[in-house]
This record gives sequence, structure tokens and C-alpha cells, in this order.
Amino acid sequence: MTRVAVFPGSFDPMTNAHLDVARRAATLFDRLVIGVLNNPKKSPLFSVDERIAQISGAVAEFGPHVEVVGFDGLTVDFAARSGAAFIVRGLRAVSDFEAELQMAHTNRKLQPGVDTVFLMSALEFGYVSSSLAKEVAQFGGEVGGMVPAQVAAALRARFAPPG
Ligand code: PNS
Repeated sequence: MTRVAVFPGSFDPMTNAHLDVARRAATLFDRLVIGVLNNPKKSPLFSVDERIAQISGAVAEFGPHVEVVGFDGLTVDFAARSGAAFIVRGLRAVSDFEAELQMAHTNRKLQPGVDTVFLMSALEFGYVSSSLAKEVAQFGGEVGGMVPAQVAAALRARFAPPG
């Protein structure tokens, strides 16, 4: 049996907490499809294509069974299109749990054949978030320990002083 999972998210940008979850999920599943949500309600710092390129670079070493794609609409439909029976999500702290529980129940109601699998992010990345990394980078702080190298470079470039 081939076990396929999707790992959906905004990933604007991917953090080391996300990367840690992806690394561990890549060892649990035969195929892992990381999905970057194209959310028309949000105005992201990076385009979906930029995020796909950053994440692809960061996860390349995990193996060819890990793919990165963009998606629109419902996560359960993205899972169905990908042939996935599992949705992977990371939990950094108890504060993540309530929203994640609600999403997991909603997704299971929408598509009972798809289960959500939670992985606890590594303890050292429990404080890291995409918005925090963007804020630190915006004001010239060092984001090297918070995000993958590809993302740190993209953040530095995006917030580099003009000229
Ligand atoms: O990285 P994020 O922003 O925490 O990811 C949230 C995401 C993309 C997993 C969630 O917003 C999502 O699944 N959006 C797609 C729309 C959907 O399926 N909504 C119903 C499930 S709650």
C-alpha cells in the first residue's frame, strides 16, 4: 500500500518549524505533497511561485517522493486530487491546538476518508512563526535560525534597503 499525505499551508514563508514537520513526514509517507495555498483573501509577501521555489529548494534533500505544488480551494479536494488519505499539520504549542482541532474536524466532516496527522514541531522551533520571521527581517534582524536558508535569502532580498 502506498501511503500518500498532503501538507497544506500558507508558507508565507516556510519556517524551520514547517521544515522540521516536512522532514519527519517525509519519513512516514511514501509520497508527501506540500501544498501552498493560493488564498485570494490574503496579500502575501511572496507569490505562490516564489514560495514553491523556496520550499522546493529547502526540501530537495528529503528525496524525490516529496513534491511542492500550489493549490486553490479546499484542502480535502487538494488531498483527493493528490490521491492522499492523510493531511499533515504541525503543532508548535497548545495555542495551535484549538484552531487545528476545528480544522481537522471540519476536514473529516467534509471528507471522512481523509485523516489529519499531527506532528509536534521540534522544541527549538516552538516560538517560530512566518509572521514573526517577516517582522524580524523587515527591521533588519537576523532570521537565519528561524527559516530555511533559501527563505532567509529571499527575506533579506525583499527587505534590502533600496540602492
Ligand atoms: O499555514 P496556515 O495558514 O496555518 O494553513 C491553513 C490552511 C491552508 C491549512 C487552511 O487555511 C486551509 O486548509 N485552507 C483551505 C480552505 C479549506 O479547506 N478550508 C476548510 C478547512 S478548515
